[in-house]
Amino acid sequence: MQTIRGFRDILPKHIPLWQKVEKEATCLFEAFGFKEIRIPILEKTELFARSIGEVTDIVEKEMYTFPDRKGDKLTLRPEATASIVRSYIQHKMYATDPVRKFFMIGPMFRRERPQKGRYRQFYQIDAEIFGVESAYIDSQLIYLLNELFKRLGLSGLSAHINSLGCPKCRPSFQKALLDFLESKKSRLCDNCTRRMDKNPLRILDCKVLDCKEAIADAPATLDCLCKECEDHFNTVKATLEKQGVDFIVDKSLVRGLDYYTRTAWEIQTTTLGAQSAVAGGGRYDGLVKELGGPQTPAIGFAIGFDRLVEVMEQIDKAPEEKPLDLFIVSLGDTAMEKGYLWSCKLNQAGIRTEMDFRGKSMKALMKRANKLNTQYVLIAGENELTENTIILRNMNTKEQVSLSLETLIPELIKILKK
Ligand code: HAM
Repeated sequence: MQTIRGFRDILPKHIPLWQKVEKEATCLFEAFGFKEIRIPILEKTELFARSIGEVTDIVEKEMYTFPDRKGDKLTLRPEATASIVRSYIQHKMYATDPVRKFFMIGPMFRRERPQKGRYRQFYQIDAEIFGVESAYIDSQLIYLLNELFKRLGLSGLSAHINSLGCPKCRPSFQKALLDFLESKKSRLCDNCTRRMDKNPLRILDCKVLDCKEAIADAPATLDCLCKECEDHFNTVKATLEKQGVDFIVDKSLVRGLDYYTRTAWEIQTTTLGAQSAVAGGGRYDGLVKELGGPQTPAIGFAIGFDRLVEVMEQIDKAPEEKPLDLFIVSLGDTAMEKGYLWSCKLNQAGIRTEMDFRGKSMKALMKRANKLNTQYVLIAGENELTENTIILRNMNTKEQVSLSLETLIPELIKILKK
């Protein structure tokens, strides 16, 4: 049996790097006032269709959707934002305090064509802020991402930022875009031609080379912003400059989800081939209302956890595995039982202790102790047990001490906890 295409095991040897990222991210989120939220993996399909947009690649082609036994249409979450918005509304969080900051880490599912950096089950580190309209929050999220990547020792990433406007300036942009697209219609792929009436903005995100060339001079949202959106974007840029965060204004950045308004961004790398976006996010000031809550500005981002780890693996060796504290060499049945009881007590005291239950010889057990890279070995044979003393050997210095059986556990804890 093999994993399903695009799904993979994250094996123990890779875990230390994942844990390092998780630890740094959680620590930073907490310092910035975010609270962890855990949301279901399965939601009603409608939630994603309405949030991400019916006419998007994710909803049209990539979701794992199926009817449950009662016929409800369910979907494995392709992202976290929609669910967090649902949760914010469902629990009426806006009523007690509209300003909320959440983060979550977990798997997402999209049926894309698998390749390096692109999987069908992948992980995101997601952060969302509700209830703050100020442009400082946009800067703060980009600053936070920048800080996290710095702490993880990453360089060579660039923040691409854009403004997608708001419902006030979007119509004039859409008109300019449609006029432009009309003149390029014959060069567009079938998918783009179909999307022209339904969702022309998506054409700007088409990956087909011919379409990309045809729309190279398409009007940009940035050139059609209303005064408020322009001021907002200027504040974001000015603040980032003051904070020393490098960024590139990228007029062509539109993101693949429909809910965005105003600031949108991606953190890109050049080291992962086609999968250049390590993180993406933006404002979505209309979504809470769209899904049935009160008008609430909101903004967030998601980091592609798998991609981030892959970038780190290129520069960073996984943190060294911690050596074992103690290996108990127990020879004979009585020693095996005693060794087992001691090992549990030591484990309980937080001392990494292992033993072997296969009744192997002294030589084989010492070989295993070496393989497990242990700091100490405790040698318990029949003789030691009858003499009431037991030998503890330091594997680095080769020094040995005799410990009395009566005080064995407290003595070991004292030595090994150092
Ligand atoms: P997104 O750009 O679709 O945004 O995904 C965010 C990140 O997830 C991407 O930049 C990428 O690193 C990673 N990612 C996406 N698809 C895959 C895949 N198939 N395999 C591996 N990694 C992948 C969102 O999901 C939004 N919910 C972000 C957001 C939060 N916007 C506002 N709040």
